[in-house]
Amino acid sequence: MTTLISHSAAWNALKTHQQALAQVSMRDLFAQDSQRFERFSVEACGLLLDYSKNRLTGETITKLQQLAIEANLPDGIARMFRGEKINHTEQRAALHIALRNRSNRPIMVDGKDVMPEVNAVLAQIRQFSNSVRDGEWRGYTGKPIESIVNIGIGGSDLGPAMVARALKAYHHPRLRRYFVSNVDGTHLAQTLAKVDPETTLFIIASKTFTTQETLLNAHSARQWLIEKLGDEKAVAKHFVAVSTATQKVTEFGIDPANMFAFWDWVGGRYSLWSAIGLPIAVMIGMENFEQLLAGAHELDTHFETAPYDKNLPVLMGLIEVWYSSFFEASTHAVLPYDYALKLFSPYLQQLIMESLGKHVNCEGNPVDYSTCPIIWGAPGNNGQHAFYQLLHQGTHLVPADFIIAVESQHDLPGHQDAVLSNALAQTYALMMGRTADETRHALDSKGLSGELLAQQLPHRVFQGNQPSNTLVYQKLTPQVLGALIALYEHKIFVQGLCWGINPFDQWGVELGKQVANTLLPALQETAGAHKEHDSSTEGLLKYINAHRRHSFDSVT
Ligand code: F6P
Repeated sequence: MTTLISHSAAWNALKTHQQALAQVSMRDLFAQDSQRFERFSVEACGLLLDYSKNRLTGETITKLQQLAIEANLPDGIARMFRGEKINHTEQRAALHIALRNRSNRPIMVDGKDVMPEVNAVLAQIRQFSNSVRDGEWRGYTGKPIESIVNIGIGGSDLGPAMVARALKAYHHPRLRRYFVSNVDGTHLAQTLAKVDPETTLFIIASKTFTTQETLLNAHSARQWLIEKLGDEKAVAKHFVAVSTATQKVTEFGIDPANMFAFWDWVGGRYSLWSAIGLPIAVMIGMENFEQLLAGAHELDTHFETAPYDKNLPVLMGLIEVWYSSFFEASTHAVLPYDYALKLFSPYLQQLIMESLGKHVNCEGNPVDYSTCPIIWGAPGNNGQHAFYQLLHQGTHLVPADFIIAVESQHDLPGHQDAVLSNALAQTYALMMGRTADETRHALDSKGLSGELLAQQLPHRVFQGNQPSNTLVYQKLTPQVLGALIALYEHKIFVQGLCWGINPFDQWGVELGKQVANTLLPALQETAGAHKEHDSSTEGLLKYINAHRRHSFDSVT
């Protein structure tokens, strides 16, 4: 017996419904219903979600909710909040909600309440971040810290880097932050060129403490520091680690007293709320970091308790399932009209695609429907002058999230009016488009006629019917940002439940790592010695080895 959700009655009802709705334009839906915005918008946790500019009706939402019930959404949500091992391929709970559980209610894993440990690490973060900010924590030569260099990759980089960038308005004035992730020496070298060893603190962030990129960067940074300060003892004052692997941290040479722990039930891409958020806490202060946690906690409670037709992550998750699996939309754009969210799309790329880029369901059966769309995007106005052409007149269906701050973090006269008018104009234009008749009329009023008008006409028509969600908040405070991130985390969980896939493992990253390990020695051997790979890989290896030797020869 198959367990695919696509064989359910709810799925089939949506399929039939989609065929009817595929021909309907949102322009008509708005014309027929003056209350469409009121009907299809919800406000919670400081976020307004307007989902009226989507290709759906009330019937669609009802049918999607039936799918959610069919997929056991209520049970799935309850199991996550109870701390059950829902990440079944790794036999782990997925408890990012415990990291920001400001109610402090007990959350049990293997019969043990995790909250005392969570609170103890938060206290350690508070103590440490205060001492760095106050200038009490000194470098080896006695100077206060001025530069924080986080060395990590993936979830140990993207989340903290995004939040630290988004909350720049809250940074301590003495401190600068840098994030080094790429194993290409250029990244570390360029960062080290900007900082002073006497006033730099390195945070080595790695859940496993086995990640090649992070360890190589950490070793090189350590070497650099010792060379510059002339004493290995300096490491204790300039290196701290964030990890679940105490033994490996100690082996690296970092005192366990300078280590911040977290737990295997925190997924890397869900970890910014844990000690992985240490650079955030140092930059913005513990009170603000706790506001970030509080915003996420408020959203967690909303997710757990709000009815589905008023539940932000449930609605956004179901709408994404609607487009991916029923309209075959293969991409999803994230377009913040808030420059502080410059790194939000790259952050979401890992969060969403590493979670949902799967092709088998929890039982190991290949699915027969599309799952995760490709996530991409850039700050709104920049995108308008780059890729929006494709959104307006291309051939792809591209659902998009427009993220809008009513107030900017900086108050330069006239700027925010321009941002807001552009954002609203784009969602309107994408939805409405411009028909041939309207275009003819517009060209006519500009004085075009005859053959020239006929020639221009098809190029000036906009198909419209491009769907979007609009998320609006007052201002990007730590609390609002916490809620916004948690919204996307739970939206992913909803999609995972509907598609029957596990959003908390990431086996797809393993193969490349294993092959890289086999190629590493081959790069150090003579060209052509290896015959293990396909002719392309072997040919490239041979070419690169020959050219590397050539450049070594010309240096020596
Ligand atoms: O390779 C992918 C990945 O495992 C991510 O899931 C993770 O966020 C990243 O690598 C970094 O892992 P770690 O924190 O263990 O260094």
